[in-house]
Amino acid sequence: MARALSPKFFTKLYSTNRKGFLEKIQTLLDSPVSNAKHEVNVCGITFRNDLGNAAGLDKDGSLLKFNYFLGSGFAVVGTVLNEPHTGKLFPMGKKQHNPWTPLPNSHSALNSLGLPSLGVDKALENIAKFRTEFPDKDFPVGLSIMGHPLQEGQQKLDGILECVEKSVGKVEFIEINESCPNVAHQTDDGLGDRLKAISQIKKATPIFVKLGSLGNAAQTVTLLDGSNIDGLILLNTQKNYDFYRPKLSSKDHKVFDYYTQQYQGGLSGEIIKETSFDAVKRASEEITKQNSKLQLIHVGGISTKQDVKQSRQLAPLREWYTGMMERLCSGPIDQLYPGVL
Ligand SMILES: Cc1cc2nc3c(=O)[nH]c(=O)nc-3n(C[C@H](O)[C@H](O)[C@H](O)COP(=O)(O)O)c2cc1C
Repeated sequence: MARALSPKFFTKLYSTNRKGFLEKIQTLLDSPVSNAKHEVNVCGITFRNDLGNAAGLDKDGSLLKFNYFLGSGFAVVGTVLNEPHTGKLFPMGKKQHNPWTPLPNSHSALNSLGLPSLGVDKALENIAKFRTEFPDKDFPVGLSIMGHPLQEGQQKLDGILECVEKSVGKVEFIEINESCPNVAHQTDDGLGDRLKAISQIKKATPIFVKLGSLGNAAQTVTLLDGSNIDGLILLNTQKNYDFYRPKLSSKDHKVFDYYTQQYQGGLSGEIIKETSFDAVKRASEEITKQNSKLQLIHVGGISTKQDVKQSRQLAPLREWYTGMMERLCSGPIDQLYPGVL
């Protein structure tokens, strides 16, 4: 289809249907389709299995039933912001949408949603509603939080702290989205101070930090440990187009070139798998070396049973988004998680 349609129409088709497609599936599900068990305990939390949806799939907690019924080990809601935000909207026909597109021949995707969020209060309300209906203890819900893109300095930090303060005790864990690829994870960029401020109010809720790149493994592990952080999530989408373009199927180049010129955006899926495995491996080795208690969540390009098996050698938990979307569109949904996968 990517070759039959113009890149513009192809992007529009997916951007306008991203959320509606998942909501439609959720509406059609009235009971669990699988009971995929691979129980793990991380930071004192029991996960029914070790593969959950990555942040961005369920921005506001409106798809918790979808994840729960499909067999996901846990769910991540967000990234949420302290106040509602439309994200990066672009005119497509008569309406405006947050763009994303699959790169189907490369089992990858590009997105530039720009953090649309209904705000932390709405997400927590949706999580509470879900909990009332499904109180199971082995399906943890995490909340991804980030500073508001339209705020700066102290106001932005206050926004993060407001979200953390509101969420502690209401979700099983928190992800702090610190994934800008341009952030150098060193002590002089303010990250350490930010994380220490968060740690002071986290109470018993474990805090994971999600990065776009590991940077210097020794420095990053030392920094997170010194800031009383519980875990590290690697990685977010990648933006090094010159590095990744030649690795994509040439059949996707037309869509890739159109999309990146029009919307920029981060790459996800199989194209970033090698990068994510390399980062998690280096982090895992450094954690052992430093005798650190940091826990790892691996995300980036995971889509097959083999990927999960390999990932388990490095991290106790993993998440997926692009691979899950592809499998959702190509196989029976009751086979998405069994076994896991
Ligand atoms: C459409 C889309 C939206 C995303 N939104 C977020 C987000 O809000 N917060 C976040 O931390 N990561 C977000 N991500 C990144 C994913 O959580 C994940 O780190 C990345 O896609 C790599 O995993 P994958 O290869 O399994 O897709 C998003 C990814 C996609 C494809």
